[in-house]
Amino acid sequence: MPSRKSHDEKSFALITGASRGIGLELAKECAKHGHGVVLVARHQDALEAAAGQIEGKHGVRAIVIRADLRDSAAPSEILAATIEQQIEVHMVINNAGFGLGGEFLETDMEREIEMIHVNVVALTHLTKLFAPAMVKRRSGRIMNVASTAAFQPGPLMSVYYATKAFVLSFSEAIAEELRNTGVTVTTLCPGATATDFAETAQISNTRLFRKLGVADAGNIARYGYKAMMRGDRVAIPGWRDKLMVQSERFAPRRLVTSIVRRVQESR
Ligand SMILES: NC(=O)c1ccc[n+]([C@@H]2O[C@H](COP(=O)([O-])OP(=O)(O)OC[C@H]3O[C@@H](n4cnc5c(N)ncnc54)[C@H](OP(=O)(O)O)[C@@H]3O)[C@@H](O)[C@H]2O)c1
Repeated sequence: MPSRKSHDEKSFALITGASRGIGLELAKECAKHGHGVVLVARHQDALEAAAGQIEGKHGVRAIVIRADLRDSAAPSEILAATIEQQIEVHMVINNAGFGLGGEFLETDMEREIEMIHVNVVALTHLTKLFAPAMVKRRSGRIMNVASTAAFQPGPLMSVYYATKAFVLSFSEAIAEELRNTGVTVTTLCPGATATDFAETAQISNTRLFRKLGVADAGNIARYGYKAMMRGDRVAIPGWRDKLMVQSERFAPRRLVTSIVRRVQESR
């Protein structure tokens, strides 16, 4: 857990899954606005490269914490590492996550249990560990990255959609609990975005990724950062996804579920 060159920022943003994709863009966005960043993921080399790039470009301190969020000890170890380095974490962005496509009876249970650990358990645990100090300071921002998948069941990617429904429900609930504490909780719900996500989830061939168009990770991060700083509770980037989420509220759930199945099918 090496520390990088020293500046004197007091306010740090901790971002999980910051080695690439949306998380890396969110880290850059925080750094651009003058916050020191704590970058968390598994791949040390990618984290070191990201930290070097961020420090060079934005002149803030970028600290690397290597952690595997499948491991249930990881959240406590991350907190301990920030205390050891005397870092005050004012923002936590729980972004790390992955999916897995396929029929539930055929997908790998082990991988799905790992997914639940990363997408749900680690996110919940990190929120539990970092929120109390924010409440004590009466100031803080938490952003949990869900997905447009959070709003409906997802045949052919059932466990992933369910993890994101958890993230949305949990985050909205604690946003209400933390009302008037100075700490806000934002759920960022991107639609399909151009990162390594689709390849990792083995869904690059689906209609969702091949036909419907994908967003740019930098645009998602800029949108998310602004929403988090405003303290918005739910942030859905893009007019098409906003419209989809709204219209689903009025359609029969069974119809919505069958449409999602078509979108998740390979073409
Ligand atoms: N891309 C999309 O279409 C899309 C749409 C909606 C929501 N999202 C959500 O956005 C978030 C970011 O995804 P992305 O699209 O940026 O995907 P990505 O490019 O695959 O990045 C995933 C990030 O999570 C980290 N990660 C994965 N497993 C981890 C583990 N066990 N422990 C610690 N870190 C781990 C990865 O780093 P290491 O491999 O170095 O650990 C990487 O930094 C996820 O929560 C995803 O569900 C993505």
